[in-house]
Amino acid sequence: MSFPIHRPRRLRRSESLRALVRETPLAAGDFIYPMFVCPGKNVRTEIASMPGVCQQSVDRFLEECREVEQLGIAGIILFGLPEKKDEQGSEAWAAGAPVQRAVAAVKKAGLNLLVATDVCLCEYTSHGHCGVVENDRVLNDPSLELLSRTALSHARAGADIVAPSDMMDGRVGAIRRSLDQNGFTDVAILAYSAKYCSAFYGPFREAAESAPQFGDRRSYQMDPANAREALREVRLDLEEGADMVMVKPALPYLDVLRAVRRAVTVPVGAYNVSGEYSMVKAAAANGWLDEKRAVMEILTGIRRAGADFILTYHAKDAARWLAE
Ligand code: PBG
Repeated sequence: MSFPIHRPRRLRRSESLRALVRETPLAAGDFIYPMFVCPGKNVRTEIASMPGVCQQSVDRFLEECREVEQLGIAGIILFGLPEKKDEQGSEAWAAGAPVQRAVAAVKKAGLNLLVATDVCLCEYTSHGHCGVVENDRVLNDPSLELLSRTALSHARAGADIVAPSDMMDGRVGAIRRSLDQNGFTDVAILAYSAKYCSAFYGPFREAAESAPQFGDRRSYQMDPANAREALREVRLDLEEGADMVMVKPALPYLDVLRAVRRAVTVPVGAYNVSGEYSMVKAAAANGWLDEKRAVMEILTGIRRAGADFILTYHAKDAARWLAE
């Protein structure tokens, strides 16, 4: 027996009814806002392909952090631009580099924001790859020491969470050991566990000036066709000591997000990446999409698929819309 007894539309009649039965909550506290810090003073340069997102010096960055805190956003994740790049990416772990100074500045200001840092070398290496390069190959094991140094320097600056995004094997374990040996047992690791080799990082590479100078990242980032492999990556990262795991990008991988959510008990994050942001912004600028509705639908979809929290460049706009 179905219709006319059953009428699902009964529960859609008013906003109060719809709110009562809504299955997936969305709140500013679910968002982590990615930010780019660069050297210098009083610098704020908008990234052409990411309207509203800027490279900024630590002083201007701190101003924006106050705004992010006011909006009730859970935290930020930091990316840095070095003064100069080299073969090893040595500015990645320099105590006085922009990320380290930015972390210390937010902590000193006493802002109620979680501070996560992206741990990777590609922004800092002259070749633009995420690890040590020899004869045009990205070497795994020698990269672990450099990544550990980087994570440790972020912890020393005061980071709450370090988030390795390089996709070298064994990096979570190496970072955990180095943090623990240096007394940072309470700094959490958010592993970019299922990070795919994606075209959707394009605008980010403009923002972070981190495009590989030869080849691509297919020998370390995951093949977009693989879902089971994501579960393997997640399991290995958890065995190595990850506290939280992440799927990235979000939209083409919602099935992976759902599978990961079902497989683990730890918190799961999703990275709504630069290209996903730019597509919405470009369509909205042309009047082809209603930006607010599109963004809310995307973020709700990512939560519905299983993300506990979302790294998103839409965080500030979405937080404002949620507060309306
Ligand atoms: C660094 C890193 C990248 C992103 C996050 N960390 C770029 C890449 O792997 O090429 C992408 C984020 C985005 O596109 O928003 N490895």
